[in-house]
Amino acid sequence: LQHFLTIEGLQRKHLIEILDTAETLSGVAERRVKKVPTLHGKTVVNLFFENSTRTRTTFELAAKRLSADVLNVNIATSSTNKGETLLDTIRNIEAMQVDMFVVRHAVSGAAEFIARHVAPHIAVLNAGDGRHAHPTQAMLDMMTIRRHKGEFANLRVAIVGDVLHSRVARSNIHALNVLGTGEVRIVGPKTLLPADAEGLGVHVYHDLAHGLRDVDVVIMLRLQRERMSGALLPSAAEYFQQYGLTEERLALAAPDAIVLHPGPINRGVEMDSAVVDGPRAVILEQVTNGIAVRMAVMSIVLGNRAHPQEDFA
Ligand code: CP
Repeated sequence: LQHFLTIEGLQRKHLIEILDTAETLSGVAERRVKKVPTLHGKTVVNLFFENSTRTRTTFELAAKRLSADVLNVNIATSSTNKGETLLDTIRNIEAMQVDMFVVRHAVSGAAEFIARHVAPHIAVLNAGDGRHAHPTQAMLDMMTIRRHKGEFANLRVAIVGDVLHSRVARSNIHALNVLGTGEVRIVGPKTLLPADAEGLGVHVYHDLAHGLRDVDVVIMLRLQRERMSGALLPSAAEYFQQYGLTEERLALAAPDAIVLHPGPINRGVEMDSAVVDGPRAVILEQVTNGIAVRMAVMSIVLGNRAHPQEDFA
């Protein structure tokens, strides 16, 4: 892999390589083993044009545990506020002889745009672009599911909530299908599901009780209010009444079903606190697995690539 921008177009062998590599690195992610030297001498730049807690910090930790140097560019105080274009920002940081950009941006396609313009020795990782893709989130979700459930072919998975605005849902649907999941469902009101849903290789449910019946895995989504226009905005109370995950509703799923959420969670909107903090939730495991998956992706993409100046060292 030259970059890691989306799950679309990747084959099963690529996803399995990431999952298997993440497992071999999980001892480092979980602090059973100290750092490894894989990216010693490399410089990773975090460029987050949108807010983040989990993704930015776990990318930083992943890079540090691979022994890379990490630069976190504070976009809020950067010269983008003085009118500098995205491409000029990239070119100037590129001139600092860096090796990798980790990019989050509100515009779909932003990471791909940057990847098309950087020098060939630089890798670009997509940390979430608009509604389009969040591929490392999908891979940490797949790692979490595989650890608990094993083979994807035997599983029914329901993705519940605001699928329309969710880059996580899109990347998860692609990853689950590439990995051969038995059945992938999306569940939500018509206004929050994509019009082309059937073409994505999923079964569509508008009724939560039907959508949850007998599933092995429930992936809950946040209402992405920041990406909605007024007409789409349900009230929090209305939404929770119809689509909020409670313990009673979760009882409709398989008895050993697990519950995932990419975070941030709005408690009492998409999930009741009793479920968030309950025994079926694997939400904090997802966060830990995010370090291992991001270490895996960084080492696969950059592990064997030399900076041009290194040839003369
Ligand atoms: N899951 C996720 O992308 O969380 P952050 O927005 O906190 O990075």
